[in-house]
Amino acid sequence: MATYDLVVIGTGPGGYVCAVRASQLGMKVAVVEKNATLGGTCLNVGCMPSKALLHASEMFEEAGHSFAKMGVSVSAPKLDLPAMMNFKQQGIDGNVKGVEFLMKKNKVDVLKGTGKILGTGKVEVSADGKSQLVETKNIVIATGSDIARLKGIEIDEKRIVSSTGALSLDKVPGKLLIVGAGVIGLELGSVWHRLGAEVVVVEFLDRILPGMDGEIAKQFQRILEKQGFAFKLGAKVTAVDTSGKTLKATIEPAAGGAAETLDADVVLVCIGRVPYTEALGLKEAGVALDPRGRVQIDPHFATSLKGVYAIGDVVAGPMLAHKAEDEGVAVAEIIAGQAGHVNYDVIPGVVYTTPEVSSVGKTEEELKQAGVAYTVGKFPFTANGRSKVNQTTDGFVKILADAKTDRVLGVHIIGREAGEMIHEACVLMEFGGSAEDLARTCHAHPTRSEAVKEAALAVGKRAIHM
Ligand code: FAD
Ligand code: NAI
Repeated sequence: MATYDLVVIGTGPGGYVCAVRASQLGMKVAVVEKNATLGGTCLNVGCMPSKALLHASEMFEEAGHSFAKMGVSVSAPKLDLPAMMNFKQQGIDGNVKGVEFLMKKNKVDVLKGTGKILGTGKVEVSADGKSQLVETKNIVIATGSDIARLKGIEIDEKRIVSSTGALSLDKVPGKLLIVGAGVIGLELGSVWHRLGAEVVVVEFLDRILPGMDGEIAKQFQRILEKQGFAFKLGAKVTAVDTSGKTLKATIEPAAGGAAETLDADVVLVCIGRVPYTEALGLKEAGVALDPRGRVQIDPHFATSLKGVYAIGDVVAGPMLAHKAEDEGVAVAEIIAGQAGHVNYDVIPGVVYTTPEVSSVGKTEEELKQAGVAYTVGKFPFTANGRSKVNQTTDGFVKILADAKTDRVLGVHIIGREAGEMIHEACVLMEFGGSAEDLARTCHAHPTRSEAVKEAALAVGKRAIHM
């Protein structure tokens, strides 16, 4: 029987990163994966394929709508969807191979099959009707999440799709109805809208992107509407009639009232994700779940069963790949007797649309609710030189700082490359920095990041270019 210091169940960004770090710390490690390929949701049907299609569709959009004004004259671009899907697949394959390479390089054994926890130190791995028992000092559950479903609406991944089906449509839908104005809806809605679909987004709440700063979300909605998105806020889809050639979706106001019917060629259901614990045998083994079905952990990622830990989408917190990765590193260090730690106050979030939206720390709504006195510094990209010459001036930077100490509590950006720009705010906040620290840091000219410095200056009411 194989024996290990650590067996990690699941090879998404949480699991494979945990395995690498544990191996670096001298442990004998194995990972268990039930899918044919390593890398989890993120590499196979999540972050990476969506970003490949966002990039390709943005290029398509730019070639069709932005080149001419810069004096680049090309004939109208033609969409070759199979080639675009192939581009996406090449990206997936490259990254998946990268994880295989990392497992080999770090001497991590890959056990293909479904992992089940039999008790402390015991994992059963089953594949093709056969199973093997593996002994290990520690177990990390990194089994991720699955799509949340809408009662009565069956996902066939052809006409009624989850994000997985929406990443592989074989033609551009004439009308795409999206249920849920969260990250997936707006990212994948952008992909198909750029490629020619008419997009309507139905959202239960009265705003898009719940959890993001309200002012940023409002401006983002206006920009998306200008691009051609239609939103039905405060509404829910209660049924989809699939009997005809065109889907007929029933939409009801969230607060109750008369229903309406909308036609669609494809309906994308993206109303969140749920923790994935199927087949792990948690109940029998004595691993407790919280009321929302997530594996319950203490501040050191330990579950209710000795020697069993859990990280990533399967536990509480934002369902983000980088959060899972950081937890993977932290738990490996804790198991090795070190002081692994994740600072949940500084986890950035990015929506990879055009423009991008990025955020770290507290929103204005959160500060108000907590009764924290704060100052706001804002700077629009219309006043940023680089954005002006590139004619990409949508959006602004918003910095929230403690009114007494000037410590930066939250940074929110909407604009091109906002996802790259947020990281200077993350570093600043990790070091407990102030708006003044940021404002006095020299920023290269001409860059879009100068808008971050100007927003920090604006906290002290002394922005230069506004
Ligand atoms: P996962 O990546 O879900 O991996 C879990 C793995 O465990 C899977 O491979 C699964 O097969 C395996 N597994 C499950 N049960 C067992 C078992 N019993 N035995 C063996 N193996 C098992 N996040 C971002 O930060 N940025 C993004 O841009 C982004 N884009 C996304 C786009 C989409 C369309 C989706 C759906 C998600 C996106 N996410 C993004 C979220 C991100 O994918 C997840 O937060 C991340 O993958 C979670 O990592 P994880 O390691 O916890 O789990
Ligand atoms: P989400 O939680 O971001 O958004 C779901 C939206 O659906 C919410 O606005 C919610 O109010 C709405 N909703 C819920 N029930 C509804 C109903 N019955 N009718 C209408 N609207 C309803 O979830 P999403 O977009 O499915 O993404 C899942 C997870 O994947 C997120 O937690 C996100 O963190 C992660 N992800 C991250 C990305 C990134 O970091 N760029 C990209 C894509 C996904």
